[in-house]
Amino acid sequence: MPASFRSKAATTGFALAALSLACVLGNRPAASGQATQTAPMTGATPPNKATPPTATPQVAPGGASAPQATPATATTPPRPGAFNAGAARAPEDPAQVERGKTLYGLSCQACHGQDLRGGDMGGPNLLRSQVALSDQHGELITPIIHGARQAQGMPNIGLNDADAQAVAAYVRSVVGTIKGQGMPPGELKALNVVVGDAHRGQTYFDQHCERCHSPSGEFAHIADKYSEPKTLQARWLAGGRSTALDAPGNKTTVSVTTAPSQTVSGGLLHIDDFLVSLHLPDGTEQSFKRRGNVPEVVIHDPLQAHRDMLSKYNDKDIHDVTAYLVTLK
Ligand code: HEC
Ligand code: HEC
Repeated sequence: MPASFRSKAATTGFALAALSLACVLGNRPAASGQATQTAPMTGATPPNKATPPTATPQVAPGGASAPQATPATATTPPRPGAFNAGAARAPEDPAQVERGKTLYGLSCQACHGQDLRGGDMGGPNLLRSQVALSDQHGELITPIIHGARQAQGMPNIGLNDADAQAVAAYVRSVVGTIKGQGMPPGELKALNVVVGDAHRGQTYFDQHCERCHSPSGEFAHIADKYSEPKTLQARWLAGGRSTALDAPGNKTTVSVTTAPSQTVSGGLLHIDDFLVSLHLPDGTEQSFKRRGNVPEVVIHDPLQAHRDMLSKYNDKDIHDVTAYLVTLK
């Protein structure tokens, strides 16, 4: 499906988060054929537009249509499963939560699981997340939705602020429910992700990973480095870290060719449609204005292979490789 999108996206190191997300989420249409750096935003537009209609009818399931913006204390329906689980937090606006739930299904579930306990695509358990637990009004969760954890493998989801707030409210509401049941989320048992066949995982590794990684070398103790299997799985899916340019250890490089045989290369610092900046080997920085394809810019991202693979694994591959990797200690 995303073949043409993919080949264009592959020419930039940036549309990739959107790309893998598009693959993860399956059939989200690419809004335009242009896979420039702005792709994450355009790619994510349709669900934003699509959600309000589904959200609206949910506003007043019981008929008592309180204006949604009012802080709910006075109007809280004493319904079981309502989201005011008695935690320290203010009750959530039910309409916002409902909308957030829809958005969660579209944008988060593939990675974090339907029940928020993590999913095969590597998202951690949000019920045990300190961030989700501490979030009061989106101040911790929305920056993550907007890309703050790209370095750790969560792409910028490309939701607008209101939608990100709604998802945050939904996440809080679920976490709040758990808390209300008196079960400290920190003690919830993590879903066991080590359910695969380690032997098959090893074969898969030999075929797809060994050209870049050595199980007796750098990976000899990878299961010690990431001792929580869920984390190990998230890391191998994401390639350990991201292409976020300001991420520590970023190794994305760029070559800028201004004229035949006039090429400068270095670490990529910034790129947009109008400007590319790089870090030269001598420690200086240099920037070039961009106009279409002039100068010619070629980005090399060492984690390209990881993102390309992301759309190729099936569940069994993922489980088997994880089962194999946890034996490397
Ligand atoms: C492509 C997979 C992917 C998608 C889609 C995704 N996430 Fe994540 N998310 C991750 C990964 C991987 C991490 C772990 C990052 C880290 O280790 O800091 C993460 C971390 C988080 C965290 C921080 C957890 C913590 O305690 O550190 C929150 C909160 C979160 N995601 C919320 C969301 C929400 C809300 C959405 C949807 C709007 C979403 N994520 C979509 C992969 C994903
Ligand atoms: C084309 C080369 C290539 C292939 C193929 C490849 N990787 Fe990677 N992988 C990388 C690079 C580059 C990194 C980032 C290393 C760094 O940050 O220094 C990485 C990072 C990782 C990490 C994180 C390591 C750490 O110490 O945090 C894991 C785990 C991983 N890969 C597992 C896999 C698995 C499993 C496969 C096969 C399914 C695979 N890789 C295939 C190039 C590759």
